[in-house]
Amino acid sequence: MTLMMMTMMTSNGCIRKIDLKDLQAVKIIEDEAFQEHAYNENEIKDMLLMEGGESYLFEIDEQPAGYVSFYIKNGKCRVESIGVRPQFQRNGIGKKLMALVEQRCNELNAKSIILETFERNIAAISLYERLGYEVIGKIINYYNIPFNGSRDAVRLRKRL
Ligand SMILES: CC(C)(COP(=O)(O)OP(=O)(O)OC[C@H]1O[C@@H](n2cnc3c(N)ncnc32)[C@H](O)[C@@H]1OP(=O)(O)O)[C@@H](O)C(=O)NCCC(=O)NCCS
Repeated sequence: MTLMMMTMMTSNGCIRKIDLKDLQAVKIIEDEAFQEHAYNENEIKDMLLMEGGESYLFEIDEQPAGYVSFYIKNGKCRVESIGVRPQFQRNGIGKKLMALVEQRCNELNAKSIILETFERNIAAISLYERLGYEVIGKIINYYNIPFNGSRDAVRLRKRL
């Protein structure tokens, strides 16, 4: 069954496709999860409208808890952003959102997933490595604002 039009109940919360009406919900998650690194409204809008893009919201009791945004092009998937509000972290939401990305890749025949994160973002790198991603490169000064003193990114990839 495809996820295009459906809402997926999970053991604790539900995942549904995001549209532009959800911009404020995404902004709340961005601001809380990324703080000074958060996308502004225009950047979120651009992300939600990306060609080939899909974004999904994880809600708990109708409250935004987390989201993921990605696009698939030429058989490759790029995760643009994933964030979980601090009070909902370490409950498996990040893992469920990334599993959904993989499911959509399988449905749309994408063969790999690529993403970047701060080289010192231990939480994110731990999540990705646990899911089978490998670090395939480092990008110097990738970000404008440092995280834990570094602006460098690591690029990770999972072959499907
Ligand atoms: C990265 C992030 C999305 C993870 O979401 P989450 O819902 O907390 O992740 P999960 O609960 O699914 O964690 C799955 C696994 O990832 C690893 N992990 C997650 N957070 C971790 C942390 N703070 N420290 C170490 N490992 C961590 C663990 O292996 C964890 O499994 P466990 O809880 O059984 O030990 C979340 O921490 C977040 O939103 N951070 C701020 C925004 C951000 O950095 N986004 C990624 C940018 S690329």
